[in-house]
Amino acid sequence: MAESGQVAVIVPAAGRGERLGPGAPKALRFLDGSPMLLHAVRALAASRLVDHIVVAAPPEDVEGVRGIVGHLEGVQLSVVSGGETRQESVARALIGLGPEVDVVLVHDAARPLVPVELVDAVIAAVRSGAAAVVPGLPLTDTVKTVDDSAGGPPRVSGTPDRATLRAIQTPQGFRRETLRNAHAMVDPDDPVHTDDAGLVERLGVEVVVIPGHEEAFKVTRPIDLVFAEAVLARRRSSDGRS
Ligand code: C5P
Repeated sequence: MAESGQVAVIVPAAGRGERLGPGAPKALRFLDGSPMLLHAVRALAASRLVDHIVVAAPPEDVEGVRGIVGHLEGVQLSVVSGGETRQESVARALIGLGPEVDVVLVHDAARPLVPVELVDAVIAAVRSGAAAVVPGLPLTDTVKTVDDSAGGPPRVSGTPDRATLRAIQTPQGFRRETLRNAHAMVDPDDPVHTDDAGLVERLGVEVVVIPGHEEAFKVTRPIDLVFAEAVLARRRSSDGRS
């Protein structure tokens, strides 16, 4: 593929974050004095390979989000109004991308500590020929499928071989056309996908897995905020700042 195209990152940030407890939308909650979204966008803007960042904001907070991220330099930033689901938020951001963009990453605002090396590795994998790339980590827990149709506690219905499983993170990277085709083919009767690679898989496109990173975890539950603060404290002490 041509090397001359540009790279855009879509940042879905319109979730309510109910599993984190009551409060502001998740991406706007604070981590070490700044909204989680600002950490995520700064991490993406730190990549020299990223040209555009498009944030899908909670519809009632579009102006507030512009105020939070609008001052960042070195990257073109825009903010669109997000949708009812993550899938819809990504689709809305995708519409506005110009023809100069040939690689699109999608990165959850809820993964504020993503290392720039992971962003660069995803872009490099798309640039070297993959149509779709996801970072993944082996699982530490055993995973079981369950059946809860009988009422009462769910019953175990199977145990997939753990060696064949990966926990998939973001950023996920795509050739722009691949992601656009995947979103264009969405069937409103299908269950909503929780990631973009899931949509691309339906097209029969091969999705490549590259090694993920422990610090790219998603902040979902209150305990994740504790982990995130601990990672930031460790980074500060290894920078010699505390
Ligand atoms: O809910 P979940 O943890 O899967 O959300 C992943 C990301 O998708 C978060 O960054 C969240 O803000 C975003 N999202 C969105 N629009 C929605 C729901 C979630 O942009 N309607």
